[in-house]
Amino acid sequence: MKAIIVHTADEKPVLNWEDVPDVTIRPNECLVTVRATAVNRADLSQARGNYPPPPGASDILGLEMAGEIAAVGADVTGWQVGDRVCALLPGGGYAEQAAVPGGMLLPLPEHWSFAQGAAVPEVWLTAFVNLFLEGKLQAGETALIHAGASGVGTAAIQLAKAAGATVYVTAGATHKLDRCRELGADLAINYKEQDFSAEILAVSDGVDVILDPVGAGYLARNAEVCRRFGRIVNIGLLGGAQAQINMAHVLRKRLTIIGSTLRTRPLAEKIAITTQFADRFWDQLLSGELQIVIDSQFPVEQAQQAHDYVAQNRNIGKVVLTVA
Ligand SMILES: NC(=O)c1ccc[n+]([C@@H]2O[C@H](COP(=O)([O-])OP(=O)(O)OC[C@H]3O[C@@H](n4cnc5c(N)ncnc54)[C@H](OP(=O)(O)O)[C@@H]3O)[C@@H](O)[C@H]2O)c1
Repeated sequence: MKAIIVHTADEKPVLNWEDVPDVTIRPNECLVTVRATAVNRADLSQARGNYPPPPGASDILGLEMAGEIAAVGADVTGWQVGDRVCALLPGGGYAEQAAVPGGMLLPLPEHWSFAQGAAVPEVWLTAFVNLFLEGKLQAGETALIHAGASGVGTAAIQLAKAAGATVYVTAGATHKLDRCRELGADLAINYKEQDFSAEILAVSDGVDVILDPVGAGYLARNAEVCRRFGRIVNIGLLGGAQAQINMAHVLRKRLTIIGSTLRTRPLAEKIAITTQFADRFWDQLLSGELQIVIDSQFPVEQAQQAHDYVAQNRNIGKVVLTVA
């Protein structure tokens, strides 16, 4: 089969679509012919050698895909050859075929394209697990979502609103802020022009849950802007890893700071998260009440261009790679 292989030239990653050995499946897995996958920020880090796959996972890029089942493992029940599916992966999506545990598969609805299916798993499950299972966001509370126009952010805004929360976001461009408001954000702050903590404290007494992919650059202000019992869920380090913080905010407001990754969780936990997400929100995704936000599509052979586009922060929502 063919897959994207990462080479290096002038110390930069170069992504090539080339022949690789065929995928084999374990008894608990299905072989899926991939029709679409999608770019995640983590793929850019992995291509640069900074985010290795967890032990046992494919070292091919790609954390999600949609396609058709080509073979069913001996221990898998409930799935048949030809079923249209999508799934979260620990790796291996940028390829013609992928091995996926049966428990991770979600049925791809008839009215969804493969591109739509590939745009769902990573960002919706990340937003879900971190807002609700880690952050324990409740109706009536306020969530602050940084990088609101990112893939994760566009899902998180909608999930938090659907759960009855007030939603504040930050983003770095006017058209991104407008899109966040269309998706339901109650307050959208341009972090390049305004201090988000000052803006929020000018209109409210703070927030309860923060979904934060920025890390160091935001930690002190995140703590400042939290209400009593606030939860800061860190999911990325776009703004660095070494931070200083006024611990008085943490102590006096009894804050919780949570670090969270999805990819490294045990399979059973990822299956449980997928099931809980589907139970609570799948119907709203099916009906279109929750929108799958796709920015653009590239043929997988142009994965390099897609990575460059994402690295330049040009996307709102997902960048999909189609596999012919
Ligand atoms: N922990 C996990 O399990 C997990 C899972 C999935 C994703 N993530 C993380 O979640 C984040 C979003 O992922 P994604 O794939 O949805 O990203 P994405 O679509 O590529 O969007 C990322 C956006 O972040 C903003 N940004 C970049 N550098 C920034 C900085 N230094 N300060 C503030 N904002 C910055 C940019 O938007 P602006 O134009 O608004 O600046 C950029 O477009 C990433 O950090 C990713 O690693 C974590």
